Amino acid sequence: MTEPSTYPVPAEWAEKARVDAKRYDQLYGLALADPGSFWLEQAKRLDWIKRPEIAGDWSFDEADFRIRWFADGKLNVSANCIDRHLKTRGDQVAILWEPDSPDEAPRSYTYRQLHAEVCRFANVLKAAGARKGDRITIYMPMIPEAAFALLACTRIGAIHSVVFGGFSPEALAGRITDCDSTIVVTADEGRRGGKHVPLKANVDEAAKHVRCLDKVVVVKATGGEVAMQDGRDIWYHEAAAAVSADCPVEPMGAEDPLFILYTSGSTGKPKGVLHSTGGYLLWASLTHELVFDYRPGQIYWCAADIGWVTGHSYIVYGPLANGATTLMYEGLPNWPTPSRIWQVVDRHKVEILYTAPTALRALMKEGDDFVTATSRASLKLLGTVGEPINPEAWRWYHSVVGEERCPIVDTWWQTETGGAMITPMPGATALKPGSATKPMFGVEPQIVDGEGTILNGATEGNLVIARSWPGQMRTVWGDHARFFQTYFTTFPGKYTTGDGCRRDEDGYYWITGRVDDVINVSGHRMGTAEVESALVQHEKVAEAAVVGMPHDIKGQGIYAYVTLNANCEASEDLRAELRQWVRTEIGPIATPDAIQFAPGLPKTRSGKIMRRILRKIAEGDVSPQALGDTSTLADPAVVDDLVANRVTR
Ligand code: WT7
Repeated sequence: MTEPSTYPVPAEWAEKARVDAKRYDQLYGLALADPGSFWLEQAKRLDWIKRPEIAGDWSFDEADFRIRWFADGKLNVSANCIDRHLKTRGDQVAILWEPDSPDEAPRSYTYRQLHAEVCRFANVLKAAGARKGDRITIYMPMIPEAAFALLACTRIGAIHSVVFGGFSPEALAGRITDCDSTIVVTADEGRRGGKHVPLKANVDEAAKHVRCLDKVVVVKATGGEVAMQDGRDIWYHEAAAAVSADCPVEPMGAEDPLFILYTSGSTGKPKGVLHSTGGYLLWASLTHELVFDYRPGQIYWCAADIGWVTGHSYIVYGPLANGATTLMYEGLPNWPTPSRIWQVVDRHKVEILYTAPTALRALMKEGDDFVTATSRASLKLLGTVGEPINPEAWRWYHSVVGEERCPIVDTWWQTETGGAMITPMPGATALKPGSATKPMFGVEPQIVDGEGTILNGATEGNLVIARSWPGQMRTVWGDHARFFQTYFTTFPGKYTTGDGCRRDEDGYYWITGRVDDVINVSGHRMGTAEVESALVQHEKVAEAAVVGMPHDIKGQGIYAYVTLNANCEASEDLRAELRQWVRTEIGPIATPDAIQFAPGLPKTRSGKIMRRILRKIAEGDVSPQALGDTSTLADPAVVDDLVANRVTR
């Protein structure tokens, strides 16, 4: 039997969905033809303290470079995510929390309870000295208090910077320092898959390398032993008992900063991606409603971590702005059993599930029985994000998990874009496995060649976005020049995504992966330069070059070529030591999957490393055609050595 290449919109979806195919075409056209009125109309979905009269005001040209949306509007994000729902759905569950272990009881918070929790958290932050515009670093496990902390920051106008709990003390210290955070919010420990993560101890370690830090607010999550430093550390539960459960909202300009989120780029240290208040919230809320066709009362689960942008936009801000019930899960999809994710679906009657291809591939490998042993009858819609999904995993998700009744929304976006950019809408878009399909309203994708020439029709090249959209990042924290340089100079006048892309004859977009020195490991972005700089800090390493390699589960793995200093001996022990070294320097997600000790790296006569060749060798494609012309290398013989000593781990 041949698998269909296109899955038409099911009739019942076309009928009941908010946006059907005809409406999609109309609204897509309108948003491009008259963006001013389109976006002012859309802005009505938010509660404004002062309603905006101007929509987009932007230019991607160097001379008058600016990105502003709804700049004359005033609003508060926590009022939009909580207060405005109190009258209509105060007793509806806002956050449903599933703990790491299935033997523990879930917790839930209604919108009214959420209001009290967030107000208290905001008052604790204020008592710790937080003011509008201050940066607060949040280094938390996936517990409800993490969401309270985010919302509390927005309530008082502080800018949060969430650092994923899997990052090392070194990485945390760098992020605290970069944005001059005075307060860190953390927990005693995190838990994942039964293992404890010493978050507070990591903060203590990070604090040794940081000058700006004033207070550490510690949530008691596991009750694990921690050291508290007098005058600096505050137990959240003690401080919360002493403050009021009411806190007024700070009126914010739409362009006031909302949060910073660090992400890896192709060069240097991670960039602090800055999102602003009005445009971001509008984008998160609109896309959450349309992409998932979210209906009041539905249980919705985005199985990401709050440490990544997916968690920001689709666990917290989008769903809560829409008055949804959002499920937050502390643990892993496959612990204690590969059925766990589906058991959580059944336990909470989840209707919409949003997860990543890497999780699906890992679960698929365990066999269908772990899926079919569960009901999943509540599921109506499935989503995926983070990396291209291979058609095989797509079809498994569709037929085995969704029993062919659930459309799949494959959403392409980035930390920088704030929310979904190229994505199906379930009532409007016929699906093709592996394609993120069509652009969201207001998104104008283009495919350009290396010179920036626009390629029309069915084609392949670099994906750029030709105009601004409300959810676009506004700057790199502390380095506006780097923002312009990174995203607007490769193809002047356009936003460069860093992704390669194919467009087919039906106008569907197929992301082919990064075209820069960024690799996508399990849906998480890793800059090769970051891993290289960690490696060369080891005393025995003279030089390192890192590239991506294909990986069955992770999508891409990390392949490191390492040249040792003279008199240093390559060994299995050293290989293990270097892996551990990178884990300590950056975090487990950066652990190299393969390390090849290389006496020399392929360089041009001017000393530039030929990464193209290193990528091919890591991929195992060592044919002369793949390796191409090596005659321009300073020493062509190094390639033979690299090929002969290729490793798989
Ligand atoms: C990069 C952005 C968006 C939140 C999670 C990752 C890749 C993301 C898809 C998709 C193909 C995808 C791109 C993009 N990517 N979603 N549906 N299909 N590729 O956010 O860490 O900022 O990474 O992830 O390469 O540029 P991020």
